[in-house]
Amino acid sequence: MTPIVITGTDTGVGKTVFAAGLTAALGASYWKPVQSGLEEATDSQIVAALSQRPVLPETYRLRRPASPHLAAEDMDIEIDLAQLCLPQVDGPLVVEGAGGVMVPLNRRVFFLELFAGWNAPVILVARTQLGTINHAALSLMALRGAGCRVLGVAFVGAAEPEVEQTIAEMCQVRHLGRLGPLADLTHETLAHAFQDIDLDAIRSAL
Ligand SMILES: Nc1ncnc2c1ncn2[C@@H]1O[C@H](COP(=O)(O)OP(=O)(O)O)[C@@H](O)[C@H]1O
Ligand SMILES: [Mg+2]
Repeated sequence: MTPIVITGTDTGVGKTVFAAGLTAALGASYWKPVQSGLEEATDSQIVAALSQRPVLPETYRLRRPASPHLAAEDMDIEIDLAQLCLPQVDGPLVVEGAGGVMVPLNRRVFFLELFAGWNAPVILVARTQLGTINHAALSLMALRGAGCRVLGVAFVGAAEPEVEQTIAEMCQVRHLGRLGPLADLTHETLAHAFQDIDLDAIRSAL
């Protein structure tokens, strides 16, 4: 079993779409340990459709579309890290966090600590729009400070070569490629776009 963690600089940056593409490309399984918000399509449903690969059930399914610690409290539960051990599967396992690294799981623990405890390589998904250098650099500093092995940064959005290069150089992080904006998001269009992602670098680091 080879886990790989997908985190992001923020919510809505493209983690789920990237994770779906990666799950398909690696022939992996996907796991979203904590899902907040059940009204819209969940990340697991989106990944199942886009990757056409096995999706494991979420450990915590929280109704409110809010930070997991608040969504859990709404349901009178507290997220217990002992319940969030990496599941054993054959082959690669793509694991998606919620939001970014400093999202609270409960009143004491951030996602970052969970990732560090798993000891699994991490890919940071970043948008290409203005503001991303700051968010990417902060996220990388936090990940490295916690002892996480960062495999690289994957970008989502329109090309911004100067911005992407600045992050790669100043943060000394591998640029894993970029998923451009897809007008029609399907299994096929995503698989095609994923040809721009450096899968060899990802595979060799697993
Ligand atoms: N490459 C892309 N092309 C077009 N739309 C995208 C792309 N990546 C993400 N999106 C859209 O952006 C929104 C946020 O993406 P998502 O992957 O759910 O982000 P996150 O998991 O970081 O919250 C979704 O509506 C998704 O369909
Ligand atoms: Mg997501």
